[in-house]
This record gives sequence, C-alpha cells and structure tokens, in this order.
Amino acid sequence: MTKKAQHIITFLFLVAIVLFVGIKLFDELNTLPLQIENAMTIAVFVLMVSFLVLHIAHTRRAAEIAKAFQQVDVLKQEFIAMAGSEMRTPITNIRAYVELLRTSGGELTQEQKDLARKIENASGNLKDLVSDMVESTELERDSITFEYTDFDIETLVSEVVEAFTPIAREKGLQVSKEGLKELVVHSDRVKVRRALVNLVSNAIKYTPKGSVIVSYLEEGDHVEIHVRDSGIGISEEDLKKLFQKFYRIKSKETETIPGTGLGLWLTRAIIRKLGGNVEVISTKGVGTTFIISLPVTRPAT
Ligand SMILES: Nc1ncnc2c1ncn2[C@@H]1O[C@H](COP(=O)(O)OP(=O)(O)OP(=O)(O)O)[C@@H](O)[C@H]1O
Ligand SMILES: [Mg+2]
Repeated sequence: MTKKAQHIITFLFLVAIVLFVGIKLFDELNTLPLQIENAMTIAVFVLMVSFLVLHIAHTRRAAEIAKAFQQVDVLKQEFIAMAGSEMRTPITNIRAYVELLRTSGGELTQEQKDLARKIENASGNLKDLVSDMVESTELERDSITFEYTDFDIETLVSEVVEAFTPIAREKGLQVSKEGLKELVVHSDRVKVRRALVNLVSNAIKYTPKGSVIVSYLEEGDHVEIHVRDSGIGISEEDLKKLFQKFYRIKSKETETIPGTGLGLWLTRAIIRKLGGNVEVISTKGVGTTFIISLPVTRPAT
C-alpha cells in the first residue's frame, strides 16, 4: 500500500467521522431511513478497522526498518574498528621506515629529503584520519577508554607548537606559544594532545596569512587552552552548525581545502567526556579563537 493510498483512507475515515458526529449532533440521523443509517454505521466501522490495520502494519514496518538500521550500524562500527586497527600497523611501519631513511639512510639530496617529508606528512594525515574514524565509532559504542595521568599543559602546548612550526612556515604563517607557567592537570594526555592538534591543524588550514597563537591560563578549577588565528573566520550562521558531525563550511575560500568534517565534532565530544568543553568565538574575515576548557582534576563520573 502506497503512502498516498494510506493518506486517502485516513482522510476518508476522518470525513466519515465528522459526518457521522455532525449528523448525530444535529439530531438528523433519526430522520434518515433506517437502511441509510445502518449503511453509514457499517461504512464507518469498516473504515475504522482498515485504519487500525494500516496503522499496526505501518508501526510494525517502521520497527523492522529501525532494527535493520541498528544492525547495519553495528556492522559498520565493527568493520571500522577492525579495519582501523589493521591499517594502523602498516601506517606506523611506513612512518618508521621514512624516519629511518631520513636519519640513517646516508646522505640524501634535497629532493629526496623533500620527498621523505611529503611521505611523512601524508602518512601522518592518514594516521590521523584512521584515528578519527576509530575514535568516532568508539564514541558511538561508548567504548572509548581514558588514561588519566598528571601532565603539564605548558610542555604539551610547546610540543604541539613545535610540531606544527615547519608546516606553518611552508605556508608563510607564524605559529607561537604564549605563556611560560607550568600548569599541571590530571587528564588523558594523548586525548588532550589530539584535541589540541585538531584545533591547531584547523587554524593553519583555514588561515591564508598571518599567525596562529596558542595560549593557556588557569580559570578557577579549570585550565583554558586558546587557539587564536587570523584566518578566514566563520559566519554566525555557520557557527551554529560547526560542531555537527561531518559539517564543513562550503565557500570559495574552503573549496580546495581537504577534510572530512569529523575533527571538531570528535574534539568536542572527547573533551566533554573528560569533563571539559570546547567553544568558539569568530568574526568572518578577521579570525577565530577556539577554547578548550579542561578540569584540573579528574571529574567525578
Ligand atoms: N580555525 C578555523 N577557521 C575557519 N574555519 C574553520 C576553522 N576550524 C574549522 N573551520 C571550519 O569548520 C569546518 C569543520 O572543521 P573540522 O575540523 O570538523 O573538519 P575539517 O577540518 O573540514 O576536516 P577534518 O575532519 O579532516 O578535520 C571546516 O570544514 C571549516 O570550514
Ligand atoms: Mg579539521
């Protein structure tokens, strides 16, 4: 039965009820011949039953479809988890061999060094993509695990800024850190580092000229890490949807920049699991600041 047919039957059913109740109300039914009254009662009854049967069938079908979708979702999650862990080993090997080539493979020409750097960057991007995919399914299945340790935010920020300096320099951008104070937090260092890497990588990606500055400060029982750029900025309309899964802003400035739109969704979901949050302030054409706020101590679960 098509949707259109269902609508027609529902409509007829409603019309019949209205007629029936209307006639009853105006007490005109008594004036009609008995056969017409009976015919109308039977018609309403038949329509009512068919409506009920249709409704039950429709609900059953919807439940079946929902169940099938759930099964497909579980299969998809299992496949990504399995494929992700299978992909991690060869990517790690590629990165280790390139590192070996660069450090102990004898004298390399400038061209060979550049090629080695490109392989390193591309395999790094691939590693991040696989990690994003695996982590997003772990979040969906609620099977993500955290390892809490004490670590210093200043050291972490320095490490990330240093790692991005060559890439930024290639683009003619300046990446710097503000702050010298040691700030120890109890959280998951690897996860916080990935969140910060996502934000700094975005800041560089979406800044054609100028600078990216990473700073941090203590705010009561939280620390805040700010990633500020002088990039393309984000409109108010896009800000509302920015943290949605797979959301990417479509504009002239972003059309050639690759990405999946998973980074921000993942970053905020993970930081929230750690008891913190990620927020954004931006002005189109001026720049953007992302703020990671993280509790200093482990949050109560
Ligand atoms: N610092 C920024 N300045 C301007 N726009 C940004 C900035 N960071 C993110 N965006 C916009 O938000 C969108 C979503 O970012 P997100 O990091 O989730 O995905 P992505 O960078 O497109 O891909 P990936 O998943 O590989 O990180 C981007 O496509 C971009 O349009
Ligand atoms: Mg990104």
